[in-house]
Amino acid sequence: MNSIETNIKLHSVEAIETAIREENLTELTSIIQEAIKVKGYIHITNQMSTEFFETIGNQLGKVLTMTDVKVDKISEKKAINARAYRGKDRPITYSAKEISFHSDSPIQKLIGFYCIEQDEIDGSLMMLDMEPIMEHLSEEELSILKSIKVNWANLEDGKEVINEACLFSEGRDNVEVYYASWHLQQKISANQQEVLTRFQNFIKQTQEQQLLKIRLKKGETIFVNNRRMLHAREKIADNSKRHIIRLGIGSAV
Ligand SMILES: [Fe+2]
Repeated sequence: MNSIETNIKLHSVEAIETAIREENLTELTSIIQEAIKVKGYIHITNQMSTEFFETIGNQLGKVLTMTDVKVDKISEKKAINARAYRGKDRPITYSAKEISFHSDSPIQKLIGFYCIEQDEIDGSLMMLDMEPIMEHLSEEELSILKSIKVNWANLEDGKEVINEACLFSEGRDNVEVYYASWHLQQKISANQQEVLTRFQNFIKQTQEQQLLKIRLKKGETIFVNNRRMLHAREKIADNSKRHIIRLGIGSAV
């Protein structure tokens, strides 16, 4: 496919509309994968049902988690009790507090967000593309970045088990980042700290210059490459009605 055709396909709301209407999963999956490959995410403004969103998720890879993201005191308490450690800045999916820029667990290649109900005031999803880090840091700095380890947690029998992953690695055809400030390991050399600070400054700079902010409407969807883009959310009200379904999608089986 040449670049003109790719552009047409990427920007064709009509093509997506038709694929959704005809429930043409093959066509829709190919449009989504193409868009994610080029720009790291796709925002589908065409309305779809929750069931169809889940069906697409299953088509894109192995669905590892499906979470109702909303302010919910009971789920918040349960999540806190399951934790292996409690960092002061570690956010909780079910809390109204802000969540700063991070990746979800690194085994999730893609994340799907589907809006059941949006916050009355904002509730936008914010994203940053980390692909340009390759030009921002030197070869030597990138190799130091690769040596920095970040924890990630998975639930086993209702309790967290801690694993670790590299903050940065080079994938087959793009960068692979895994970052969550609250999961950074404490033991870090002066060299690593210096490069980590440069990486964190790059996040700040990208946030100032190239912030992607999308306020999903009811029935809208985002699929995003979790290893390329960081995501975040600002604080919402304690009584917010915001309800997002989040799919954590691993590699295809
Ligand atoms: Fe997240």
